This record gives sequence, C-alpha cells and structure tokens, in this order.
Amino acid sequence: MVASKPNARVPIELCAEGLAKRFGSEVVLENLDLEVASGELIAIVGASGCGKTVLLHLLIGLHQPSAGRVLARHHGWPEAPLVDLSTLDETGLEDIRLSWSVVFQHNALFAGSVYDNCAIWLREHPHLDEAIIRTRVREALADVGLDVDEVIEKERGQLSGGMAKRVAVARALVPDPMVIFYDEPTTGLDPMFGAQIQELIWSTHHRPRQDGQLRTSVIVSHDRELLRRLHPRVVMLHEAGICFDGPYDAFCALEEGPPHDYMLQMPGLHARPPREALRAAPHGA
Ligand SMILES: Nc1ncnc2c1ncn2[C@@H]1O[C@H](COP(=O)(O)OP(=O)(O)OP(=O)(O)O)[C@@H](O)[C@H]1O
Ligand SMILES: [Mg+2]
Repeated sequence: MVASKPNARVPIELCAEGLAKRFGSEVVLENLDLEVASGELIAIVGASGCGKTVLLHLLIGLHQPSAGRVLARHHGWPEAPLVDLSTLDETGLEDIRLSWSVVFQHNALFAGSVYDNCAIWLREHPHLDEAIIRTRVREALADVGLDVDEVIEKERGQLSGGMAKRVAVARALVPDPMVIFYDEPTTGLDPMFGAQIQELIWSTHHRPRQDGQLRTSVIVSHDRELLRRLHPRVVMLHEAGICFDGPYDAFCALEEGPPHDYMLQMPGLHARPPREALRAAPHGA
C-alpha cells in the first residue's frame, strides 16, 4: 500500500508516474509524469478538451488510470507516506480525502440548502457543535463575496451560475484543507468577483495552518488574469502530455510554440476590477 518513494526535505504531496487515460480509442493523456511538492501553487492550463479535468480527476482518484499511477501523501498517518491511490479501497480513499477539498468544474452542489452544502464536512467532525459550524460557514460565504443572509438558506436551484460557483469555492474552504483542487474557479464570474476569488485563493494558500504544515493548491484555469495575479508554477497540457512545466514568468517569456499560442488566445477577465476591490492583491493589481 505504501510506495517506496522516500519523502524529500520538502515532501511530495502528489505524484503522477507514467499516467495515461484513454476513453475507448481516444487517448486523453499518455505517459505523463508530474510531481507536486507540499506548499506549491500550481496551475494546469491548456486548450479546451486537452484533458485538464481528466488529469485532476485522476489526481483525486475519481478516475482510474489506464496506465501508470498516482501517489498522494496520506496525512492521516504519522509519517505522511506517499500512497498509491489504486491500492486503496473506498474507505482508504476517504481517509486521504479528509485533508483535501475540491472545487469541481460544474460545482457539484448537492440538493439542499447552501448551508447544508457548506456544512457537510464539518458535520462529520465529532467535536464541532452546530453554532461553530454556522459561524465557519458564514465566514466562508462572506469571503467569496456573497450576501450571507440572502443566500444561506437558498436551494441549489435558486442560485445563479456565479453564485453557485462561489458557494462551491466557499464549501471547499470551510474545512481548512491541506490540499485544494480548483477546477475553473473563476469561470462565469464577472471581473470583480473573479478578482475576489483569485485573491481568496492566494490568501488561503498562504494562510498559516495551525499544524504548521504547508498548504498545496492545484488550479485548473483558463483565466489569464488569475495566472498574472498568482504567479503559479504553470503546467501546460498539449497533445496528451505536458509541453511546459515551469514558473509563470518563464511561461510568459516564451515567444513561440504551444504555450505562446495558447497565451495569445487565453481568455482573461476582460475588464480590470477597481483597485479598491482588491484588498491585498498578491501581484501587480
Ligand atoms: N467520462 C468520459 N468518458 C469519455 N470521454 C471523456 C470522459 N471525460 C472526459 N472525456 C474526454 O476527455 C477529453 C478531455 O476532457 P477534459 O474534460 O479533461 O477537458 P478539459 O481540458 O478539462 O476541457 P475544458 O477546458 O473544456 O474543461 C475530452 O475529449 C472529453 O470528451
Ligand atoms: Mg475541464
């Protein structure tokens, strides 16, 4: 169950080795290697349909690889070893996922109120009473820019697309996860709310954890403004593999090839938000 890979000084949080995913005759990913160290902020980019969501779902164990494997750090164990996800049963996967949160591309809110959606993981916690949970949920909804009293009792079907996206982000942040996976966290948001979510991703990533461990953020995005603000490590998918893996500045500096072409076409949030909307924007607001 435990892979032999030794933990380095900065531990590896996630690792894909020779990863492939095929659907019938369609090869989505082939022989892909990727290491994500603890504390990294990483953006996965690439053209629509290139396999970003599939890769994310492989990393969180929702898809089974056609070949290769995914290793993840198991925070529930004292030494936090790397574990091959394919060796885990549903309970084992649930244990690992206790330290993860996911913002799904289409939000994946379940039927029930906004409050129920956001409270779900904290309610699993045996020592938290409902008043504390309510406070945490209200804070998270306020953090994503929602009018808390207006939305908290709304049902999923009563939310606009942008509201649902922000609820999905709030739900992911409520449990204070160690690793956060965001699939298109700003898609469908107007520039001001998009900027607020970008800032929230940044501040959440850097907010110290009580246990002193580093947080890791993996973001799938088409949002050029998000990259510009967060300066992540950029991993670009192209033709079933990784065509670029490096710092944001190096990604921008390329003058030819798929990353360059992609950057030219990459949608951004077209209007710039007012400066005062960005309380502490991380990079060059
Ligand atoms: N469950 C599935 N069954 C069959 N094919 C699938 C499945 N999931 C994804 N695919 C295919 O895999 C390819 C990659 O899909 P994926 O959703 O990862 O794209 P993406 O890069 O996230 O695109 P977008 O930016 O539009 O979200 C697509 O051709 C898609 O049709
Ligand atoms: Mg996708």
